[in-house]
Amino acid sequence: MLSRIDHVGVAVENIDAALSLYRDALGLELVHRETVAEQGVDAALLDIGDGHVELLEPLGPETGVGRFLARKGPGLHHVAYRVQDVEAALGTLSAAGLRLIDERPRGGIRGSRVAFLHPASTGGVLTEIVQPAKEAH
Ligand code: CO
Repeated sequence: MLSRIDHVGVAVENIDAALSLYRDALGLELVHRETVAEQGVDAALLDIGDGHVELLEPLGPETGVGRFLARKGPGLHHVAYRVQDVEAALGTLSAAGLRLIDERPRGGIRGSRVAFLHPASTGGVLTEIVQPAKEAH
């Protein structure tokens, strides 16, 4: 059901500052930037192999990523696994006893459909499943 790691999400205070590390020093290619209002973030995607690093800058302190930054500071925020059908995957994972943050998929970056699993049932790792838009890769 999970086909591969789609991306890792990294919480940052400022995307432009973070690009000096990820793009300029580490040499990853910046391929997309977008404000994802449903997730309360400005986001940037950088390519690495078949996967991505997703930089997340909160739109405000009351957003999920804003609260994460206040509590833990910048750093690894979530791991995202690719699925073909996010609704079917949610049903399977829920039936397996995992606690869902999202009962229904919501809009993610670049036209994807995503849902988050609660870290209480995934060993402390905030886990996302993502169904890319058809034209994305
Ligand atoms: Co993500």
